[in-house]
Amino acid sequence: MKVIITKDYESMSEKAYEEVRAVIAENPAAVLGLATGTTPLGLYRRMADDCGRGGISYKKIRTVNLDEYAGLGADSDQSYVYFMRKNLFDHLDILPENTFIANGKAEDLEAECARYNALLEGMRQDIQVLGIGSNGHIAFNEPGTPFSSTVHVVDLAESTIRDNARLFAREEDVPRKAITMGLKNIMRAKKILILANGANKARAVCGLVKGEVTEAVPASVLQLHPDCTLICDRDAAAMI
Ligand code: PGA
Repeated sequence: MKVIITKDYESMSEKAYEEVRAVIAENPAAVLGLATGTTPLGLYRRMADDCGRGGISYKKIRTVNLDEYAGLGADSDQSYVYFMRKNLFDHLDILPENTFIANGKAEDLEAECARYNALLEGMRQDIQVLGIGSNGHIAFNEPGTPFSSTVHVVDLAESTIRDNARLFAREEDVPRKAITMGLKNIMRAKKILILANGANKARAVCGLVKGEVTEAVPASVLQLHPDCTLICDRDAAAMI
């Protein structure tokens, strides 16, 4: 794994944007795997600003997102589809029909997993952007998730519910289930870019980079990927 340590969040985001921009420059019809959460916001701001200034165009780009809360859709400002529109898609020249995310409001969640999995099998990510949970999760693949997992419904870990409660009015409002890409779907990406900032990620980053490759630390599977880059700030790199 290639590791880039930056002085702060803004330079982490700048480096991340350089990586994404290079992928699009090489292939203007690339498939971008995208993540939600606070970590990639600086990257998304740079993508939006550059596109707004007439820089990189997303007219031929397709995107696939990692996950979505069960029960939430575009009408909820806590949903990931809403997050992606507000923080990125609304500011790009991307075609809405080229942005894909699992439907958290599907009546049959298992059928929705199968549909999304089939979609992913037909469009391999040229680059997959990831954050990391303080418990070492990637997407909503919580500790113990098999490396062979494909798109599935998950019960969120207590630590994830606590971490994400800051984004909801009350902890009770955080959905307990989600649909997520599995680890196998993530590992299929041609290139992986994992971002981390802040001291609360230091232990997870240590497991990602130098821990045992174990399903107890889902991010550790990335040690097996042939083209994975970690970009993190000094605080998140404190234990590596
Ligand atoms: P964060 O979430 O970017 O909001 O810290 C990362 C994650 O849980 O994967």
